[in-house]
Amino acid sequence: MKKCIVITGATSGIGEELVNQFKYEDYTVFCGYRNFNKLNKDLPNNVIPYFIDMKSRESIVKASEFIKSKTDKVDILINVAGIVAAGPVEIIDTDRLREQFDVNVFSHIELAQNLIPVLEGGRIVNISSMSSFGNFPFISPYCASKRALDIFFNAFAVENHKNIQVVSIKPGVISTPIWKKSVETNEEQITNCGDYEKEMEFLKNNALQNTGKGLSVIRAAEFIKKIALKKRVKTSYTLGADAKFAQLMSYLPQDIINFWVKVILRHRIS
Ligand SMILES: NC(=O)c1ccc[n+]([C@@H]2O[C@H](COP(=O)([O-])OP(=O)(O)OC[C@H]3O[C@@H](n4cnc5c(N)ncnc54)[C@H](OP(=O)(O)O)[C@@H]3O)[C@@H](O)[C@H]2O)c1
Repeated sequence: MKKCIVITGATSGIGEELVNQFKYEDYTVFCGYRNFNKLNKDLPNNVIPYFIDMKSRESIVKASEFIKSKTDKVDILINVAGIVAAGPVEIIDTDRLREQFDVNVFSHIELAQNLIPVLEGGRIVNISSMSSFGNFPFISPYCASKRALDIFFNAFAVENHKNIQVVSIKPGVISTPIWKKSVETNEEQITNCGDYEKEMEFLKNNALQNTGKGLSVIRAAEFIKKIALKKRVKTSYTLGADAKFAQLMSYLPQDIINFWVKVILRHRIS
């Protein structure tokens, strides 16, 4: 029987490239989209698109029912969908915080919960981030969401009785549209940021530069595919030199990290 792979966030960046890399191989691939216009219409028969809005529990349940109506075994669930919410903690709109956690954390838990009957003996691959290692100032909602994702799914890996493995992949910066999108969706936080104007301008420029300076999305998807299909896997992988550096930094005492982050920030925005 063909192996079955479920991917969320498959209409852009890493998710879209993963579909490209799996589509001509001997897999059934469920390809999650929220915007039909963004969906590649030229997909072979083994790629089955399904609608999923990661902000809506109802949509997640419907998507799971659809997948379960087509297959009785999901071998690999790759949780890719994600967004970036930014802003100083002092003034961040808590609705944006909720949205950040809805899309990056709760939706992935809900999807996994709903697919458990067909995931037995399978594997969940979460696309976390190097942000899970710590606190990058002004994108703390994103960092916290990725850390939370790792904590919940690590607990699930230890707790579950269904022999479902969990792998967290923590990429550094990858050249995808997420950075440009983050500037657009955080426009309100960037323009109305009180006396954090310089910091938010720096963050915006940094995000726009990330689009071009990150690791190629093809290499990122190749790496993720390799891990997803590996026989024996570790709990966590970093991807990119920046992610490895973030991991190393995270071993330092928080006071030292905070000191250096402040020094670097002051130097960069002056
Ligand atoms: N790029 C990086 O540097 C980087 C680094 C570390 C980790 N990551 C993580 O990698 C994952 C993929 O990011 P990417 O860089 O490939 O970003 P991307 O190009 O923006 O892709 C994100 C995907 O998630 C989908 N999505 C967002 N909100 C959704 C919602 N409410 N319902 C359904 N789908 C939704 C998007 O749909 P639309 O196409 O409709 O927008 C898109 O398909 C994310 O979890 C991100 O946090 C990225």
